[in-house]
Amino acid sequence: MKLLDQTRQLLRRDQVFEFLQPEINPDLDISHRTLLYLEGVSVSFDGFKAINDLNLYIDAGELRCIIGPNGAGKTTLMDIITGRTRPDSGSVWFGQVINLLKLSEPEIANAGIGRKFQKPTVFENHSVFDNLELAMAADKRVWPTLLARLTAEQADHIDQVLATVGLLEQRQRPARVLSHGQKQWLEIGMLLVQRPRLLLVDEPVTGMTHQEMDRTAELLTSLAGEHTVVVVEHDMEFVRSIARKVTVLHQGSVLAEGSMEAVQNDPRVIEVYLGEAGSC
Ligand SMILES: Nc1ncnc2c1ncn2[C@@H]1O[C@H](COP(=O)(O)OP(=O)(O)OP(=O)(O)O)[C@@H](O)[C@H]1O
Ligand SMILES: [Mg+2]
Repeated sequence: MKLLDQTRQLLRRDQVFEFLQPEINPDLDISHRTLLYLEGVSVSFDGFKAINDLNLYIDAGELRCIIGPNGAGKTTLMDIITGRTRPDSGSVWFGQVINLLKLSEPEIANAGIGRKFQKPTVFENHSVFDNLELAMAADKRVWPTLLARLTAEQADHIDQVLATVGLLEQRQRPARVLSHGQKQWLEIGMLLVQRPRLLLVDEPVTGMTHQEMDRTAELLTSLAGEHTVVVVEHDMEFVRSIARKVTVLHQGSVLAEGSMEAVQNDPRVIEVYLGEAGSC
């Protein structure tokens, strides 16, 4: 009898098996406030140092903007944090105890680091809601979706994320009918359903209208605090609208760091970047 009950329990479609549920950042120790540490990190491609003895520290809850000329190493930096590129030297830690250099890309995602690429990669023919459901089931969590319906708590979380990214009204519409900006927000939503601690966002406003940019600024600003957000962006007007602490990357190292006002008045920054960017 007991076995039958257990089998019934296993086959219930409204439950996600406990052993398949994501562990949400079980070991993350941020008692020192710093969420992400990169120290002495270097990587070369065919002898060219794309990242050169880089030191970067991001506090929990920060919204950090990273700027710098083309080829400065901004995307490579994100590749290193997410495990896509392995540095030749240096250390990369998430909180006090997670050594990111020892984890695979999926393990890093599961540890709570979400990355948004420039080009949206939503499932065009699925509804907005289904896109979020599929994202929730990413990696090891794919099984619950195949085997079980969403729990009420999971469905609520998706609706909360829809509200956060401003797509509640588009809930049942296929993703293909969304505007470019809305697709970008949906993709941010697809990260948020996985409850990341750290969000890495590479050039989020490329191709957006001014209105969409303003909305994206509000969104990223609202995410900071509960999440830690690192934004790479060239659009200086946008950066100015969200910036708190800004890091300027140049030739794979930190050239300057501080408030937007401080870095944009820094002669070295003007010389290598802002001067060249003209209207900035
Ligand atoms: N996988 C790779 N193989 C070879 N070279 C690479 C690779 N990835 C990056 N690079 C080189 O490393 C340097 C830094 O590139 P990266 O894409 O990180 O710059 P970026 O700051 O993101 O520039 P942009 O503002 O143009 O996006 C560039 O010279 C680039 O050509
Ligand atoms: Mg780049």
